[in-house]
Amino acid sequence: MYVNTKEILEKASKNYYAVPAFNINNLEFLIAILQGAAEKKAPVIIETSEGAIKYAGNGDPLRGAKFFVETVKNYAETLDIPIALHLDHGKNLEYIAAAIKAGYSSVMIDASHEVFEKNLEITKEVVKWAHASGVSVEAELGQLAGIEDNVMAEENVLVDPEQAKIFVEKTGVDFLAPAIGTSHGAFKFKGEAKLDFERLKKVKELTKIPLVLHGASSVPKKFVELAEKYGANLGGAKGVPQEDIKECVKLGINKVNTDTDLRIAFLAGLRKHLLENEKEFDPRKYFKQGMEFVKEVVMERLEFLNAAGKA
Ligand code: G3H
Ligand code: 13P
Ligand code: NA
Ligand code: ZN
Repeated sequence: MYVNTKEILEKASKNYYAVPAFNINNLEFLIAILQGAAEKKAPVIIETSEGAIKYAGNGDPLRGAKFFVETVKNYAETLDIPIALHLDHGKNLEYIAAAIKAGYSSVMIDASHEVFEKNLEITKEVVKWAHASGVSVEAELGQLAGIEDNVMAEENVLVDPEQAKIFVEKTGVDFLAPAIGTSHGAFKFKGEAKLDFERLKKVKELTKIPLVLHGASSVPKKFVELAEKYGANLGGAKGVPQEDIKECVKLGINKVNTDTDLRIAFLAGLRKHLLENEKEFDPRKYFKQGMEFVKEVVMERLEFLNAAGKA
């Protein structure tokens, strides 16, 4: 069934587990993710970036947003697990409005690049509109960018727990993404992974709402090596170890954003199949291996985040 993200995350927050939020661009990812979640009897969050909506709508945000809502809703009605659809990193009000109008379960307003007061003001406004339509809201504090080169970010880039408390109280936001040392993409750390667990713990204590970990891909060695075996070049790829994510879940993370791992798994399957089957030109056949690998990543995440069996 198609549900509000808040319903999924409040249950996770009360029971100390996390639900993965998987980014999709196309039907193949969606089908593979939903199959994996259904097999694991787990709740799941599907998310689309503004870029994904633009791609699906051929440039028209409302057309793209409606496409995803209709597709996810229709598929969700056939499955006996809670499924939510979320706008990831909403930065343009046009996309946020389109997602709310189309019927997304939740939206993220990412004004984390603005100074604290401005972020608070914009987030508060979006919360007002979204809540009026029954849509829940995620916001971000601190910045993910700038946490490169294995340099622990400056104090002002990671979330300030005291500010988080004020931010949550004043905006009425439903979930918060605190920057604690992760970054987006396949190249997260040059040396050892380093997250600020102490800071995360304080944010949870002071806000008590569901928290979100962005940049949470683990960049599985198996699929990186397989993609490289079939011609990809992903030298230096490194993600967040599963053990670190589990620690984050103990400390209050309830939504674990994952895009890169699915992309790499799909790439590995696609490259493998195409290079091994030179005569293949049926997309249902050459996407199949990629979809199987995406499903494998999905099922493994549902398992180690303890979302399996929670539908
Ligand atoms: O946070 C970023 C997500 O991985 C989505 O990326 O804007 O390329 O769709 P995208
Ligand atoms: P990854 O690039 O680590 O998969 O992060 C995805 C993300 O945070 C989407 O918002
Ligand atoms: Na998000
Ligand atoms: Zn993100």
